[in-house]
Amino acid sequence: MSKAGALNLATGLGGKIDKSDVLSAVEKYEKYHVCYGGDEEERKANYSDMVNKYYDLVTSFYEFGWGESFHFAPRFKEESLRESIKRHEHFLALQLGLKPGQKVLDVGCGIGGPLREIARFSSTTITGLNNNEYQISRGKELNRITGVDKTCDFVKGDFMKMPFPDNVFDAVYAIEATCHAPDAYGCYSEIYRVLKPGQCFAAYEWCMTDSFDPLNQEHQKIKAEIEIGDGLPDIRLTGQCIDALKKAGFEVMWSKDLAVGSPVPWYLPLDKSHFSLSSFRLTAVGRFFTKNMVKALEYVGLAPKGSQRVQDFLEKAAEGLVEGGRKEIFTPLFFFVARKPHSGSQ
Ligand SMILES: C[S@@+](CC[C@H](N)C(=O)[O-])C[C@H]1O[C@@H](n2cnc3c(N)ncnc32)[C@H](O)[C@@H]1O
Repeated sequence: MSKAGALNLATGLGGKIDKSDVLSAVEKYEKYHVCYGGDEEERKANYSDMVNKYYDLVTSFYEFGWGESFHFAPRFKEESLRESIKRHEHFLALQLGLKPGQKVLDVGCGIGGPLREIARFSSTTITGLNNNEYQISRGKELNRITGVDKTCDFVKGDFMKMPFPDNVFDAVYAIEATCHAPDAYGCYSEIYRVLKPGQCFAAYEWCMTDSFDPLNQEHQKIKAEIEIGDGLPDIRLTGQCIDALKKAGFEVMWSKDLAVGSPVPWYLPLDKSHFSLSSFRLTAVGRFFTKNMVKALEYVGLAPKGSQRVQDFLEKAAEGLVEGGRKEIFTPLFFFVARKPHSGSQ
């Protein structure tokens, strides 16, 4: 899917981390997680360091395998993965009712794949907020190449304390990003603060569903695999997200787990039993090739030491995501639209 090749993968590995420090960064990152003795409180207290390390380490793998948009999508039969990803972005723009000229905020924007697509689809001006410097530098380069830099920009900042004044955006959206927040209420409150009264916030959230049983060891193992593989402090239940929105002051217009009823499951591209030429790099065979390529690149010194370890925890993520999806205890597609009341100012 992505135009990024093996050389881009090798040179981008480690992001802004000095190449000689990649291995120690991997070790530090792993120690935050349950299977290496870490705990939830420590992950929450150090969320900024943990999440930034994670994205420095994985961004070039994501771009190599997934493309410019780092999210899942519900999918129809006969629809390609790429088409479904774009449709999912258009759906968000339509649900927000975006109008030409509006000033929009993309919270946790990655390298800006959705930002470029939604800005062109809706003729809006979008600011991408991201705490990861490496992703911002990639996003700026891609915006310049596509000409989107004339209307859209990136701001480096933490979505728990946004560098914007109150009541400035006509719409806010977040795609599979606010799951990294140590506290949903804190993050949604910031979104509420910067949104103009009467305007909407829409998001796709990563959540545990009501089928998740916290006393079930297998469910807990799957949850921990997703957390380590995806840089998450603690995956919330769908109901906890809704409660946090209301507590922050939002009126929830509607919400739905879009994984339910999707003709093609969202996790299919990562499923080992599935093969696809168009998303070959995500398949079991494609991942096997990438694994060996990274091993060779690391051996000859083109990729930094520790690169294979990154691929190992991404593999763990893929297994956890597929199992979580299959058992319907986890969804990356919990969608909601929430309005800041007209009376709601800061
Ligand atoms: C899975 S990626 C999704 C990126 C993008 N929304 C997309 O769909 O392509 C999650 C993003 O959230 C960003 N992020 C995580 N924690 C953040 C924080 N505290 N402040 C700002 N951005 C954050 C990460 O840097 C990353 O870009």
